[in-house]
Amino acid sequence: MVANSTDENQAGDSNLDRKSEIQAFDESKTGVKGLLDSGVTQIPRIFHCAQLSPDERSGSDYQFSIPVIDLEGIHNNSILRTEVIDKVRDACEKWGFFRTLRKRKSSIRAIMEKKCSIYPIMTSPNPPELEELPAVCRHIVDEYSKRAINLGLSLFELLSEALGLNPSHLKDMDCAEGLLLLGNYYPKCPEPELTLGTSVHTDGSFITILLQDHVGGLQVLHENQWVNVPPVHGALVVNVGDLLQLITNDKFISVNHRVLAKHVGPRISVATFFRPNVQASSRVYGPIKELLSEENLPLYRETDAKEYLARYFSKGVDGISPLQQFRL
Ligand code: OGA
Ligand code: NI
Repeated sequence: MVANSTDENQAGDSNLDRKSEIQAFDESKTGVKGLLDSGVTQIPRIFHCAQLSPDERSGSDYQFSIPVIDLEGIHNNSILRTEVIDKVRDACEKWGFFRTLRKRKSSIRAIMEKKCSIYPIMTSPNPPELEELPAVCRHIVDEYSKRAINLGLSLFELLSEALGLNPSHLKDMDCAEGLLLLGNYYPKCPEPELTLGTSVHTDGSFITILLQDHVGGLQVLHENQWVNVPPVHGALVVNVGDLLQLITNDKFISVNHRVLAKHVGPRISVATFFRPNVQASSRVYGPIKELLSEENLPLYRETDAKEYLARYFSKGVDGISPLQQFRL
């Protein structure tokens, strides 16, 4: 559930009320979990951000579904690899999203499921610092991050090749240098039609790898329709973020997505964002020179990670892509 602090329809006094209600909520430090645990049956109005009819909520399941790509065996079979690269290119150009096929053995998801001890990190309204976590949690986070990085590196190779570049091009641009692991906890919601779990947004990353549990609710905007991304056991969702759209000069698209609030829950997801390392790098990102030509002139100006992320976060999650601010 998201507090909609940017609702511009609210004027004057009610805006002030809203501000102080949001502040009071923030200061209570209970989070939405605490709020719902306390037994509220109506959600406070600071969380009202949508009046979605059942029709608007129910995404399409049949007409469209996000592409599924099997990444198995691509390291030692060049024919398969070429096929996968074509699929990745197609998915990133048309959807900005794809899902991996479920893996039977040693998927990164399996680690999370075998030892659900990572859950306390996410279920706590005030997540403890990593140092305070029991050793086993630290192990899981560590193991998960390692595998997410490996998958990310393979994906950056495929994406580079899909762009017609040297396989290490994106890695050499430090696209996998900064990693952010975000645990999302969505409590069950008494009035799901009045709010959203996560409002409409694009990701401020190069790519994002998402692990979701069985509850569902993630929707992706495709050809002006919300399409459900149903949870598939053992599979991961991969999406293009704003920074990849910027450096590919709009060849790959960073698309709007949202998470519906639900009566059922809690729902848990872990998003791994591959971003530049803000602390360590002052590298500048603009459309990749090799992709530009007379017919494909740069659409964006250059920016560095610090500036990009500052703009991304100052916009809030309100459905307007911060990418627009970098358009030439
Ligand atoms: C995100 C996101 C989706 C989800 O964290 O950016 O889009 O299913 N999460 O939780
Ligand atoms: Ni997202």
